[in-house]
Amino acid sequence: QHELIEKANQEVARQREKVENDPYRLRFHLMPPVGLLNDPNGFIQYKGVYHLFYQWNPFETTHGSKFWGHYTSNNLVNWEHQPIALTPSEWFEKNGCYSGSAVEQDGKMVLFYTGNVKNEKGERETYQCMAVSNDDGLTFEKKGPVIYLPEGFTAHFRDPKVWKKDNTWYMVLGAQDLNEQGKVVLYSSQNLKDWNFHGSITGSELNGLGPFGYMWECPDLFELEGKDVLLVSPQGLEPEGDLYQNLFQAGYFVGRLDYETSVYHHGDFTELDRGFDFYAPQTTIDEKGRRLLFAWMGITDDNEKYQPTIENGWIHAMTLPRVLSLQGEKVIQQPVEELKQLRKNEVSYENVQVHTDIVTLDKVEGTTMEMLIDGILGDMDSFEITFRGAARFYYSAKEKKMSLHRKNFKDGKLESRYCEIDRIHKLHVFLDTSSIEIFVNDGEEVFTARYYPDTKNESVSFVAEGNLQFNVKKWDLD
Ligand code: FRU
Repeated sequence: QHELIEKANQEVARQREKVENDPYRLRFHLMPPVGLLNDPNGFIQYKGVYHLFYQWNPFETTHGSKFWGHYTSNNLVNWEHQPIALTPSEWFEKNGCYSGSAVEQDGKMVLFYTGNVKNEKGERETYQCMAVSNDDGLTFEKKGPVIYLPEGFTAHFRDPKVWKKDNTWYMVLGAQDLNEQGKVVLYSSQNLKDWNFHGSITGSELNGLGPFGYMWECPDLFELEGKDVLLVSPQGLEPEGDLYQNLFQAGYFVGRLDYETSVYHHGDFTELDRGFDFYAPQTTIDEKGRRLLFAWMGITDDNEKYQPTIENGWIHAMTLPRVLSLQGEKVIQQPVEELKQLRKNEVSYENVQVHTDIVTLDKVEGTTMEMLIDGILGDMDSFEITFRGAARFYYSAKEKKMSLHRKNFKDGKLESRYCEIDRIHKLHVFLDTSSIEIFVNDGEEVFTARYYPDTKNESVSFVAEGNLQFNVKKWDLD
């Protein structure tokens, strides 16, 4: 463990200058200090402090034997990097301390994660492991496996998310059954060490779903406004019209978990984000009672290896933190209030009119900024907003659709994601040096993407077919 930590720290120091000088280094998103970041892990507010751990390969910009990196914050805005929390040093995790979660028990922070192992035959083994902190979430004592692979599942069995209800602990895991169907399984425990298996609560070929993916990763089950929401990242869905266009999906079901019978009654699957880069979201409830979410602003697909930051020694980032609410059966996502602390230099325009000519507005430009466009009115057939010449948001009133377009990382060809929407009245946009997050109609839909504009291009432009009118406020974010 000490050797691995030492080696990782050396790698951070060795690459620091190169990484920090990358013009695409983000200004208000969490990133790895070097190497590759993927899933958010162990998100918790503990003794007032927010902790966010993350899947981290410090040695390469590819996926490998993951560590748990660690950030803390008092306000979800300013984050401090902490010493490495977990290293893949023991036999039960030697090929990666994979994703998991954090809870508080008797005043101590306890982590659950998947020990990923490739054995001598090259086969995968999986162990659900526990680690306890005796120093308020700074270092962790590994307790080893608490759950072994049950019968009926392949070794694609991982990503424990633990919560407490009525004095009992529960855990959901992402799984693949022997017919290679993705599932979510449930466990319960009185003491966090001894776990009872309750089988699959939902999944592909279950609960009326039909074939719905060969593996389900990173489940998260929580109560929101009296209902039980299950977030999950299924792999193996075929694109269906505008849906499921990314290689892997991240979305949710709304329903009710019957804790007596371990049956989860739920509705349809809905994607959480309509953009290109959003996967493995994880939530926690904070002391204000808010259900907060972070997701990996990236995805493992064929174009991952063409991300331009790789040449500077790092890849991927987290989304902004979002707060969730429920409107009927729909999960609404809003950026957390705290982000307003980053606002500087407000610029504001009322009743901007846009027709067929391209409109730019003095000072509504920049590389890291927030824009609130509201009061959107008009009898336009369509409008579009181009961000730094590299991402374009388009709305067609005729088709009742909106879309986001960017250049793909491999050959610069245009790629697009579409989503149905009746009417747009508000757009809330966060631009970082190489990311864009667009919240539509107060979080009814969100588009999240990385993009790589010419670093000097700061322009934002509007154009419409027909008449478009709106108000806009813009802030530099720092
Ligand atoms: C999701 C995932 C998890 C796994 C982790 C490994 O992105 O594949 O299922 O625990 O990443 O880094």
